[in-house]
Amino acid sequence: MRVCLGPLADLPDGDSRGVDAAGGGRAGLFVIRRGARVVAWRDDCPHIAGARMAWRRDAYLNADRSRIVCHAHGAEFDIDSGLCLRGPCAGERLAAVPAWVDARGLVWLDAPDD
Ligand code: FES
Repeated sequence: MRVCLGPLADLPDGDSRGVDAAGGGRAGLFVIRRGARVVAWRDDCPHIAGARMAWRRDAYLNADRSRIVCHAHGAEFDIDSGLCLRGPCAGERLAAVPAWVDARGLVWLDAPDD
């Protein structure tokens, strides 16, 4: 399902936001703004299938916002590749979600249907 998140300018640069694309009340995805582009990942830690990663709403990054962190057991992931660089699932990857900014500056996701 294609989802518009609104203007890129509404996402603080370098920060993350959970996305409830399915409308079930829980963020199944999250997006991170990297300047003029965005990346998006499923909120599903490869350490334990189905584990949610944020410790509070929209909090998917470490303190200096240089890596994605799963707050369950501290796994750290590269923001752009989704590769786990440190922690119990080192070498595994987050599942990517296609995300882009269109010519009008709107952020889009192709969210999985599940
Ligand atoms: S569930 Fe994510 S690090 Fe353990």
